Amino acid sequence: MVKEPPAIYGIIGYPLEHSLSPRMHNAAFKALKVNSVYKLFPLANEQVFTVFMEHLKDEGNPIFGLNVTVPYKEKVLAHIDTVDPFALKAGAVNTLVITHQRKIFGFNTDGPGFLSHWHELGFHLKDKRIAILGAGGTTRAILSVLCLINDRPASIKLYNRTYEKAEALVKELGQKMDASIVEVVNTPEDLDVELADALINTTPVGLKGETQLPVDPNLFHADMLVYDVIYNPAETPLLKAAKAKGAQTSNGLGMLYYQGVLSFTNWAGMDIDAKYKKIMRKALEEGVPA
Ligand code: ATR
Repeated sequence: MVKEPPAIYGIIGYPLEHSLSPRMHNAAFKALKVNSVYKLFPLANEQVFTVFMEHLKDEGNPIFGLNVTVPYKEKVLAHIDTVDPFALKAGAVNTLVITHQRKIFGFNTDGPGFLSHWHELGFHLKDKRIAILGAGGTTRAILSVLCLINDRPASIKLYNRTYEKAEALVKELGQKMDASIVEVVNTPEDLDVELADALINTTPVGLKGETQLPVDPNLFHADMLVYDVIYNPAETPLLKAAKAKGAQTSNGLGMLYYQGVLSFTNWAGMDIDAKYKKIMRKALEEGVPA
């Protein structure tokens, strides 16, 4: 009997070598005994990206699902046949489903993945005061869900190194949803961390062992959650400082896990059993040095 070639899934972006997504998804494929494989597709520039996206439409192309990461989450929208309403509002897509007829559907599972992780952490967002550092793709997804959910926070203060980028992001989102709870501030001090119920870092500060903290650690307090989307190292200096002040802390591995489960669910067309989700989470956790 001739063995069927595997269905191919993967992630497009650049650079990709540190991605944990192949670990997570290949663990699930193996456990489910399906003939599929998840690969890295590093696309070094926009030209290569455009050619790759055009070939996705080719009859016989064996790719049926993709994750999309930096720097293509926004640019990919131009290549998609049908964009899910949330992804359209957020203006970013991180998951593609490609049918046998080579139609491309786009979703954003970053925002819902963030919400699922915060649910697991026991943090209720309704009427809370949130402070956010950074105004890139991750903040775009987080802001979109926070503005769109029924149980919205009372306020979101946003600080970014480049003020104009934060301002442009909030203005753009404000055209598609009620973003009136979001205020872009000029300095980290204006985030009012001492009054905040949660602080979220979406910048890469802390990724490379930088010891300088983006906010004054004396402002952290026991009644707040400090959340760093960085998961490697598992505890950034920011999280360490927050923990020392008695704050609840979490890295972003849970967000990566939940977005991955939701992407997988989109590819499978159904939810997967809890035991397979556990395998996905374990594979992720094993990929990060403790
Ligand atoms: P992601 O998709 O992970 O959010 P991104 O879109 O590249 O990544 O966004 C990174 C964010 O971190 C940006 O808001 C960036 O600030 P600028 O808008 O000024 O570029 C911020 N950032 C990156 N390096 C930083 C640094 N060393 N200090 C402070 N902010 C930084």
